[in-house]
Amino acid sequence: MLKVIIVAGARPNFMKIAPIVAAMKRRAEFQPFIVHTGQHYDEAMSEAFFRDLNLPSPDVYLGVGSGTHAAQTAAVMTAFEPVLLKEKPDWVVVVGDVNSTLACTLVCSKLQVRVAHVEAGLRSRDRAMPEEINRLVTDQLADLLLTPSLDADANLRAEGIEENRIRFVGNVMIDSLMNQLERARSSTILTTLDLEEESYSVLTLHRPSNVDEQNAFVRILAALERIASRLPIVFPIHPRTRKMIDELGLGDRVAGISDLRLIDPIGYLDFLRLMSRARLVLTDSGGIQEETTVLGIPCITLRENTERPITVEMGTNMIVGTDSAKIIEAANRALDHATDKSNLRVPELWDGHTADRILDALSESRHVGTAGG
Ligand code: UD1
Repeated sequence: MLKVIIVAGARPNFMKIAPIVAAMKRRAEFQPFIVHTGQHYDEAMSEAFFRDLNLPSPDVYLGVGSGTHAAQTAAVMTAFEPVLLKEKPDWVVVVGDVNSTLACTLVCSKLQVRVAHVEAGLRSRDRAMPEEINRLVTDQLADLLLTPSLDADANLRAEGIEENRIRFVGNVMIDSLMNQLERARSSTILTTLDLEEESYSVLTLHRPSNVDEQNAFVRILAALERIASRLPIVFPIHPRTRKMIDELGLGDRVAGISDLRLIDPIGYLDFLRLMSRARLVLTDSGGIQEETTVLGIPCITLRENTERPITVEMGTNMIVGTDSAKIIEAANRALDHATDKSNLRVPELWDGHTADRILDALSESRHVGTAGG
């Protein structure tokens, strides 16, 4: 029996742990133990996802909440350490690149508990992005680096990481997408918002470099004014972004864009439905670049770089940045040409079976020592 602590803290973690927990329930060799750090705590950012993804309630909830990077990271570390000492797992699994990912990895390393990082090796090469720091440090420390695409393996090798710590398993978030797409069909979100299929766009925006910076935010809004004149834009708004609209005094400007429809954050199934029937997606999220690649929906990424280049090489993603004219031009180009979904290319091992490959890797690596230990 392998006892495995699975850590989740923020919204983009939940769809990554759900298939892993489900696979462990099918395989008697594994005993999963879910730790929720509480980095995200609003109902709409957390519990809604447990419901939609059929995730069992966490075994432990650390309730750390928001704070500066140092305060939040430290709070997760302090709260997680006693759980680790008490539960004595064979493995800890961390996913993605949020502060909880880094914090729990650090605690494991100090206590010489084996840690596996799911979604290892992604690099934006932009150290102004907090997630890039989390990725670099997590991958230096973790014992087993489970990668979503082969460019990630190459990044790890280039950083001098030993070959026997790297394992290409594919993209676990796509397991969730494939598992839930059928259920998402019964979502009533399009009727509720009075939207017609393929005649609206979806926007998500929450990166500090876009929403905490007045100039970048205003450039994006200028582009949205023009795009919204062609088709409605549905904007499920992240709590950070809502707060910054108030703080930066942008409320009137946002409200003045008539077909920019702000709605509260929505759950996984509603979002999947909304995204899968959209004409266009605009985003600064990492995961959405991957989901639109699999769904074949044109995606305009409002960032200067991506840690997921495969979504540009093989998928529907365009890295456009925050220049108003470039965003408008990319949107017009996407809207002027019908999307051809007949020859969709999906990256290798984005096949819905990544969770089982993750469990195989944990099982086969059960006797490896801790990294550097
Ligand atoms: C975090 C992750 C980011 C991920 C994003 C997805 C880090 C460094 N960042 O960013 O990688 O893409 O989650 O959402 O880990 N807040 C609420 N309710 C909540 C959670 C947050 O109101 O449930 C507000 C608080 O004001 C908080 C702010 O949002 O200060 C930011 O939350 P935080 O967890 O610090 O970072 P995110 O921007 O959500």
